[in-house]
Amino acid sequence: MIPVLAIDGPSGSGKGAVGMAVAERLGWHYLDSGAVYRALGLAAIWAGVACDDEAGLKRLAAELDLRFVRSAGPEPAVFVNGRECSVLLRGSEAADAASRLAVLSPVRQALLDRQRAARRPPGLVADGRDMGSQVFPDAFLKVFLTASPEVRAQRRYDQLKAKGFGVTLPQLIQEIRERDERDAGRAVAPLKPAQDAVVLDSSALGLQDVIDRVLAMVNSRSQSSFPHRIGD
Ligand code: DC
Repeated sequence: MIPVLAIDGPSGSGKGAVGMAVAERLGWHYLDSGAVYRALGLAAIWAGVACDDEAGLKRLAAELDLRFVRSAGPEPAVFVNGRECSVLLRGSEAADAASRLAVLSPVRQALLDRQRAARRPPGLVADGRDMGSQVFPDAFLKVFLTASPEVRAQRRYDQLKAKGFGVTLPQLIQEIRERDERDAGRAVAPLKPAQDAVVLDSSALGLQDVIDRVLAMVNSRSQSSFPHRIGD
């Protein structure tokens, strides 16, 4: 059985940075499931398909060509349907479209196999909203990473500024609150910790502290789940 570490949480909780670093450290694959939803959001915008058009979105999901290509920087370059959109994918437009189409159950179903296909040896670190609750319910460790909306907005602000987006902090706090409400309030696969998830509040923790804590959890769980030791 290929082990999966699920890291779920809201936007700006740090799950992407933590997930990538932990995957790198373990030598495992990494799935950024938010990127899958964002990519479909961009594809919908480009094709003029509305974010509530189930049939149109299912068709786009089936055809979606999403590729991550190693780049010189810390993050891979992203191509959606052949278009380089590493920066666009991280912007508010893609995030908003992703959050809107993510409320539709048939659309989530259409993206399920694509996400599960990322489970390849020797292991997978998967980050998103429903990795532990829906996509990989048998994950050996489920972490639900959270932080206050203000801290998350500040992190998003720093990230987006660094990528050249013209954003303001109050605007991001507002966007984060709206997106949280939609993600947590939806009927299907809402943003909430899986029953057996470990909840970790990173509001007062630095990135390295969170990475270390998750690695420590992986190490202690892995003793009983599979014979892979980290840091030996
Ligand atoms: O993690 P992110 O900000 O890149 O995610 C963008 C949106 O995609 C998020 O607001 C909701 C949706 N999403 C989801 O519904 N399920 C996931 N597993 C990942 C993302």
